[in-house]
Amino acid sequence: MILLDILFCLVLIKLIIKVQIRRDKSAQCLIGKTTIVTGANTGIGFCTALEFAKRGAKVIIACRDRVQGENARENIISATGNKNIHVGIVDFRSLRSVRQFANEIRSKETRLDILVNNAAGIKLGNKTTDDGLNLTMQVNYFGPYLLTILLLDLMKRSAPSRIINVACVGICSPHVNPRVLNEYPSGRCPELVNYANSKLCLMLFTNELARRLRGTEVTVNSVHPGAVDSDLLRNANCCLWSPVLLLKCMCFKTPEEGSQTILHVALSEEARKSSGKYFTNCQTEWRYFTPKESFDVCLAKEVWENTEDLLHLADNERIPSCL
Ligand SMILES: NC(=O)c1ccc[n+]([C@@H]2O[C@H](COP(=O)([O-])OP(=O)(O)OC[C@H]3O[C@@H](n4cnc5c(N)ncnc54)[C@H](OP(=O)(O)O)[C@@H]3O)[C@@H](O)[C@H]2O)c1
Repeated sequence: MILLDILFCLVLIKLIIKVQIRRDKSAQCLIGKTTIVTGANTGIGFCTALEFAKRGAKVIIACRDRVQGENARENIISATGNKNIHVGIVDFRSLRSVRQFANEIRSKETRLDILVNNAAGIKLGNKTTDDGLNLTMQVNYFGPYLLTILLLDLMKRSAPSRIINVACVGICSPHVNPRVLNEYPSGRCPELVNYANSKLCLMLFTNELARRLRGTEVTVNSVHPGAVDSDLLRNANCCLWSPVLLLKCMCFKTPEEGSQTILHVALSEEARKSSGKYFTNCQTEWRYFTPKESFDVCLAKEVWENTEDLLHLADNERIPSCL
């Protein structure tokens, strides 16, 4: 009897959660538009690319594995009939790979209307890349930062255009510190803290870039997709994961549901003028639930400048501050 009660409550909770998931309702057609979705071979990125393809866009699946990219491409073509789907190879563990991919896009494409920085990894270990950077920070933050900066001129020429950075709600820990950009954290659950730090830096980048792009009609926003049952947890066995795995079946969204807020920010009229905002569940997040550090203008500028130095950006790759 108790078991039945528990089961009933669980089903009820699942139903309530499902009903509360908002969906993108925009009718935006993307014929003639070019889009890039990083990490589009699987999960939330794949569902985002699929929807762009349905709407007629040219879609560039940016991923690190040619075979997986081609599989995703074939699946999207057979599901949508849109043959204007292409695979680009980028591995965010290497800044050289990011530069090569950006150069390829700049030389081949005449426009870029939507860039979704979706690719990310979690629990990548205490490793340093060949560029001398913390691996998680490079895959989730430095790589997308560099890619965005290198594609900005193309996006400005295609304006109005939109950049969407896929972030994550803050994980509360005193060890999350965006000032320590290139060090593996100490304390409990360092993998999670490393991930949270990379996502907080991505949000600070979003907000600082929005300030630097004022008046250009290129908008940039961050999105939290919600807790999604995807491949992201494939490496995960950290202290927090056991309850998470139990909750997974109950509360997690499907990747298609997780893509809805990205689509909303990429396509909707409502989000057209938003820049430097944080969205979740197809609406701007209440300030109370947004990591408070992400509003810190001085911190954003400091992290931006430290990043420019760590990436050894040339003078013409540095975007002037508005302050
Ligand atoms: N799932 C969630 O609950 C959740 C919650 C909050 C935020 N997010 C964010 O949502 C986004 C999408 O995640 P997801 O849940 O869809 O996870 P996923 O299924 O694991 O997709 C992640 C994508 O990123 C790619 N990627 C990882 N490392 C890369 C690298 N070094 N270079 C290029 N691509 C790389 C993966 O490629 P491979 O297939 O080759 O590994 C994959 O295509 C991420 O930014 C994630 O942080 C997810």
